[in-house]
Amino acid sequence: MQRIFAYLNYRVPRTRKEIFETLVKGLQRLEYRGYDSAGIAVDGPSKTTSDQNNNSICLIKKTGKVKALDEELYKKDSLNLDEELCTHFGIAHTRWATHGEPSALNSHPQRSDKDNGKIYSQSIYGILIESKSLKNKSMYHFESETDTEVIPKLIKYIYDNRENDSITFSKLVERVIKQLEGAFALVFKSRHFPGEAVATRRGSPMVIGVRSEHELLTEHIPVQYNSGELYSSFTDSSSNINSVGDGRAVEFYFASDASAIIEHTNKVLYMEDDDIAVVTGGKLSIHRMNRQAGEDPVRAIMTLQMELQQIMKGNFDAFMQKEIFEQPESVVNTMRGRLTFLPSVLSVVLGGLKDHLKEIKRCRRLIMIGCGTSFHAAVATRQILEELTELPVMVELASDFLDRITPVFRDDVCFFISQSGETADTLMALRYCKDRGALTVGVTNTVGSSICRETDCGVHINAGPEIGVASTKAYTSQFVSLIMFGLMMSEDRLSLQKRREEIINSLKMLPELIKKVLSLDEKIKAIANELYQQRSLLVMGRGFNYATCLEGALKIKEITYMHSEGILAGELKHGPLALVDKHMPVIMIIMRDACYTKCQNALQQVTARSGRPIIICCQDDTELTKNAYQTIELPQTVDCLQGILSVIPLQLMSFHLAVLRGYDVSIQHNCSSCSLLTTVQTDFICQNCELFIYSP
Ligand code: M6R
Repeated sequence: MQRIFAYLNYRVPRTRKEIFETLVKGLQRLEYRGYDSAGIAVDGPSKTTSDQNNNSICLIKKTGKVKALDEELYKKDSLNLDEELCTHFGIAHTRWATHGEPSALNSHPQRSDKDNGKIYSQSIYGILIESKSLKNKSMYHFESETDTEVIPKLIKYIYDNRENDSITFSKLVERVIKQLEGAFALVFKSRHFPGEAVATRRGSPMVIGVRSEHELLTEHIPVQYNSGELYSSFTDSSSNINSVGDGRAVEFYFASDASAIIEHTNKVLYMEDDDIAVVTGGKLSIHRMNRQAGEDPVRAIMTLQMELQQIMKGNFDAFMQKEIFEQPESVVNTMRGRLTFLPSVLSVVLGGLKDHLKEIKRCRRLIMIGCGTSFHAAVATRQILEELTELPVMVELASDFLDRITPVFRDDVCFFISQSGETADTLMALRYCKDRGALTVGVTNTVGSSICRETDCGVHINAGPEIGVASTKAYTSQFVSLIMFGLMMSEDRLSLQKRREEIINSLKMLPELIKKVLSLDEKIKAIANELYQQRSLLVMGRGFNYATCLEGALKIKEITYMHSEGILAGELKHGPLALVDKHMPVIMIIMRDACYTKCQNALQQVTARSGRPIIICCQDDTELTKNAYQTIELPQTVDCLQGILSVIPLQLMSFHLAVLRGYDVSIQHNCSSCSLLTTVQTDFICQNCELFIYSP
């Protein structure tokens, strides 16, 4: 989730303040990917001496939002904000903690020396699997807990041991990346090479934007290989030109994705794995070690025709759709660094809860509180939490919990589940429970939100920002987070070890299974095509899948403006069956679990009233298939995780129904009061400030 933005102005005078603004804006454009700290590196105050090597680099880092970093930048009295820098390279970075907690020291950029006078700063994101024995090689003091820091230390080591002074910045970087394994994207800045930039990537994206008032002499840059080969046989009149920029005024932008660049320029170059991009003397060139067979030896500057919104949405029609398809990745991010999948170690560590675990274990009940989808995540996990914690678990809608003036005691532990961390009812319920002395735990997706700040401890679900108003990936990540909490609570219960092992192994498989469910999209779209003109849609199930019915029905209501109801299959005969006839579409969730036979009974009741059930079931369930009007067959997982898989067809279904019913799911509005961006088709009540917003 780490993101990079860097900006080089060459012979384009910019004040330090303007440079700060560009860097901060770049990070803000990348905020949608989520992060917990941010930092920048810029040139420090100019020295009067002619020795350029006396230039210092100023590193400013801060935990929390980019806004906090922005405020910090203007507190540095030593920096003259009005100083004009004709040529300058500044780098900026957000970080999502994986190795080492979120802190200023651990946040990026990382540096080679503590002494600002001798700094190499660099940035990385992606997973650095192994940096071959770098720590052994380096005699330098490590100041952070990050794996990234080995990189600036290594480049310093190489620089200190250089064979001669003519070594180039790109050569140093080339030697560094030879030593790295895993995925990364890096930009380097050095006081030894002022005004120069080096960037490289492997596995993680990096795009370079070019802005110039002059026409670029070429839009094709031949790659320069180590062997000295310069591929210049392409049939372009400017084939002798091997860089972009000709020494005249030019600006370069480096970013993890084009959304941070597009407002400055639409001329971009996408770097390939192991490319080393170098800007020196205002000229951009691309270097590689050796040319591989079949490799394209030219990098083209492309002209992007997309708007910012489009870039952020990628190839998807709407944020909601994008977020549904992000789930294989978002659940991994929820588990990253918290779950150990080794057969001998069944450990789950939620860093934000570990200091309160004893207290939680001593409590008399757990109360899970939320609204809408977040409440459904509590319903979905209640049964497994009761089993793993051996505690009574209450699930509460925040508004109702407050209306009832529910008794809460000091020995209760109250969970506040909220994607935004700002929902007014949930926040009020939190304050209510705090007043009564209960331990409060936040389960949120938004670092620094009110619920995060006001709870005693918590779990960040790390799903990445959810822009679509229909909550999708946050639900599955809340689900996984609550399951991990149950696993953490049961670590010392001998009788539960087999169950825990089963769940942990299934969590490991989850991303692959989610991908399989997503591959059913075309089939689900075809079913939506048959249903979209209906007035109503019932969704039935029970046990571990009851929450899926509630959540599926909520998605359908919210996005398609169609009536939909989630019905507990056990309640069918107590009234709702009256709704079923040959016209009423009924989606039934019947998975192979302890409720299978009971669900089959419900199915019989539906078919007896000529209902035409669309059954979401496990693969190859021939028994069910023969009684179904349609089936959506899902891979099977452990019972308590099945709800993560069974909700996805309903997320997709609601999206397709909305599109077929003529709603533009991608339309977005800003709340006129608090500016919260939301994706709705018509009038809405802002989730944040609860104002009723009318959108014409
Ligand atoms: O941000 P929160 O999770 O606290 O929001 C609670 C509900 O407003 C939210 O889950 C809502 O139900 C969803 N938009 C439904 O898709």
